[in-house]
Amino acid sequence: MSKTLRKAVFPVGGLGTRFLPATKSMPKEMLPVVDKPLIQYAVEEAAAAGIEEFIFVTGRGKAAIEDHFDYSYELQDTLIRRDKTEALEELNRWMPKAGKVMYTRQQEPLGLGHAVWCARHLVGDEPFAVLLADDLVLSQTPCLKQMVDVYDRQGGNVVAVMDVPLEHTKRYGILDVGSDDGKLAEVRGLVEKPDPKDAPSTLSIIGRYILQADVFDHLETRSLGAGGEIQLTDAMARMIGAGPFFGLRFEGTRFDCGDKVGFLHANLAFALERDDMKDGVRKVIDAYSR
Ligand code: G1P
Repeated sequence: MSKTLRKAVFPVGGLGTRFLPATKSMPKEMLPVVDKPLIQYAVEEAAAAGIEEFIFVTGRGKAAIEDHFDYSYELQDTLIRRDKTEALEELNRWMPKAGKVMYTRQQEPLGLGHAVWCARHLVGDEPFAVLLADDLVLSQTPCLKQMVDVYDRQGGNVVAVMDVPLEHTKRYGILDVGSDDGKLAEVRGLVEKPDPKDAPSTLSIIGRYILQADVFDHLETRSLGAGGEIQLTDAMARMIGAGPFFGLRFEGTRFDCGDKVGFLHANLAFALERDDMKDGVRKVIDAYSR
């Protein structure tokens, strides 16, 4: 039986240059979709998938993330005095339990693989999830929960995948696919950001992973890949054959919130899901479609 998944790593050290000037003094992971920061969506998704320990790999200027997942005495006290029990309960609902949230720093921007490797001592010798907060998924069942269901049956490594247009392969980690039942694709190879002409398929990894701790041994070599960075995809590629490895075509819609249009799209899609907002938002959309 596969070991239970209890820990998740959130690489949040990136500079967010694509969202300047908003991200000059604010972490990009704190950008709100409707009224909730991207990182909170990721943490809630992890919690809904059974994750108990939350490991953040941060960097300079990311203190707002630590504050967000901490009690704010002044705010709590004000809410109590003003009798705003609902707002208070909502704040407490998603707060990680004491001692269950951990922070380490990626001191140099050497790539996603390096960021994950920085969390090795906090993860230890157990499977773990990685969630990239830029990738936001709107779905009935949270994306990571869908992956955990596969992991509990198959063990090994599981990544969330979706088909992308051929000209976009150079933005993603791309799968070379073995057996494929339309939902689960066996990973036979992995290439980080290939040119369309070299891409083994158009099935790309979005920012959700369930990985075995062996990946740290492969990251340890610090070999450089695409863009001169230490790539998580390259370390995962070295695990192929050592155990089950599947790409899950998850149910749901993924938004690339690292991209401005993708971010606005996510805001509209999430607002349209809300009873308190959908009519108003629909009117705005209609006004612009004329
Ligand atoms: C990272 C990974 C890539 C993956 C992508 C998903 O790339 O390296 O394999 O497909 O996230 O968003 P980045 O977006 O950090 O360039």
